[in-house]
Amino acid sequence: MHIHRYERWWITVGIAMLALFLGLILFAAFADNINPPSGMQQVDPTRVASTPPFDHPGLRKLSDGTYEAYYVAQVFMFTPATITIPAGSTVTFYVTSPDVVHGFEIAQTDVNMMAVPGWVNSATHRFVKPGTYLLVCNEYCGIGHQNMFGKIEVR
Ligand code: CUA
Repeated sequence: MHIHRYERWWITVGIAMLALFLGLILFAAFADNINPPSGMQQVDPTRVASTPPFDHPGLRKLSDGTYEAYYVAQVFMFTPATITIPAGSTVTFYVTSPDVVHGFEIAQTDVNMMAVPGWVNSATHRFVKPGTYLLVCNEYCGIGHQNMFGKIEVR
């Protein structure tokens, strides 16, 4: 079969465009997989209650003496509602949401982040002064928003 020079050129351009297009789609999918925004962990928001460590939210003491606290923020409560730690403790907070976007702000500290369905956000703080630190939701999340709070007791 004889293919005219121009036709051949157009076929080549067509194949190149198709390859580029597929390449971009693959790159986008791959890049999204290996490099989520801000390096955050992902969690299926419909399976938070059965996904470790969020199936048992709460405080864990690490071997180096610091703490990790895993929180589930949902309408209209934080779990755990209260944690108690000794003064001088460093705590890394991890939070996710199974429903809507919530805020996670601890008064008198620089901990201020969002609890976003599908993602695990984290922040670390050292609690020097004893007292009760209020954890509040600072994103409007519905009718019970103003009742959504928790406490960090530093003894
Ligand atoms: Cu949760 Cu506002």
